[in-house]
Amino acid sequence: MKTLIVYYSLEGNTKFTTLELANIIGADTLELIPEKPIKAKGFSKFFWGGKQVVTNELPKLKPYTFKQEDYDQLIIASPIWASRFAPVISTFINDNKITKSVALIATNEGSNCTKPFQIISDKLPNCKITGTLPLMTPLKNPEETMEKLKEFSKKLI
Ligand SMILES: Cc1cc2nc3c(=O)[nH]c(=O)nc-3n(C[C@H](O)[C@H](O)[C@H](O)COP(=O)(O)O)c2cc1C
Repeated sequence: MKTLIVYYSLEGNTKFTTLELANIIGADTLELIPEKPIKAKGFSKFFWGGKQVVTNELPKLKPYTFKQEDYDQLIIASPIWASRFAPVISTFINDNKITKSVALIATNEGSNCTKPFQIISDKLPNCKITGTLPLMTPLKNPEETMEKLKEFSKKLI
């Protein structure tokens, strides 16, 4: 069973989560990098990131290689921005007709992730959603995150 974790991370929490999970399950990873990155330092990130969400922006991505046919399963991991997945995830979904089983991970600072999971699931009509995992502040809670990832990995196909 070959798995690819597609992820975006501005401040490292989703990257940490992705790399740990990839290590546990032996998955490949694909980092989505916007052409015009937002600065991770300072408060302007909340303005620019929030603006992307409320204007339904689809930020252009730097070139990447995605061979869907090489994988049985995808995991999509993103920070929650303004109660949504980060907009680069929508760009990726828009640019690729995804047809695999998909599990979703959302790192956050306390938001209820039910709605963002539902919104992303609705954008993947040809996919079976096999699981969802919200993770609060993974870099501040690495041990708890690892435990949750281990549990989650048992539920994946
Ligand atoms: C623009 C922006 C908007 C955010 N909005 C939310 C939010 O609505 N709810 C929440 O719980 N956390 C929110 N956060 C916090 C991030 O979801 C959280 O810190 C996440 O783990 C960051 O992941 P990263 O380190 O991979 O970028 C926001 C962060 C940014 C930069």
